[in-house]
Amino acid sequence: MFDSGLGGLSVLRALHERMPLADLIYVADSAHAPYGERDDDFIAARSGQICDHLIGLSVDAIVVACNTATAAAIHLLRKAHPHLPIVGVEPGVKPAVAQSLTKRIGVLATPSTLASDKYKRLIASHGHGATIVAQPCPGLAKEIEVGELDTPALRELVERFAAPLRAADVDTVVLGCTHYPFVAPLFQQALGPGVRIMDTSAPVAQHTARLCANDARRSEGMRIDRRVAGEIHLFSSGDPQLLADVARHWLGLQGSVSTLP
Ligand code: DGL
Repeated sequence: MFDSGLGGLSVLRALHERMPLADLIYVADSAHAPYGERDDDFIAARSGQICDHLIGLSVDAIVVACNTATAAAIHLLRKAHPHLPIVGVEPGVKPAVAQSLTKRIGVLATPSTLASDKYKRLIASHGHGATIVAQPCPGLAKEIEVGELDTPALRELVERFAAPLRAADVDTVVLGCTHYPFVAPLFQQALGPGVRIMDTSAPVAQHTARLCANDARRSEGMRIDRRVAGEIHLFSSGDPQLLADVARHWLGLQGSVSTLP
């Protein structure tokens, strides 16, 4: 799995819960975060290099645990590696439309995700019958990358991005960036108790588990078949110690940690 930085750990948590026996390798490209304010070519190039690194470690599947990289690069990654299952994440607009009572929905995501063709197609396919208020959150992922989850700077950003959604009277808010679940409590406070906040880490983990189970049936003896707890390996292009500390403090996960070569 990989993300621009620490955010994809929200997906790692869900995947580890769903597949406790699987070895999981997580790459945080923290030296290049945030992706959400970069151009598609840069994001695609970094995503390609990280996938090559993961494939060099003989992974059975890759999860692009980043909405921004999914929007910018997943089609290129799948084209380059047609035989490898590659799972992406995208804002959970479809379940939000299904569950919203008022059909007024906010989407919080990076500027890059919200400007992407993939997002426009998502809204065209699943946004009908609802008012979708897209709120870009420049600077928010970068602030979460600091590794502290309740700072005045974070509260100020959360309030700035929650205010237009409050004014639009939405009843459901989609977290369309894997960093944002870590500040979901701050968003809940800013939006009020009547607003439902949704993220996609659990369905992504479920989908990945299903794909890997299908694969395991096909190739007997795959490592996820054995009955011992899976190991977690963390790589960071930034500060590996920060990644290890955050995984421990935010998720209670212990893993070996290395610098991304
Ligand atoms: N966590 C990422 C996402 O889901 C990217 C945030 C960023 O690097 O801007 O979009």
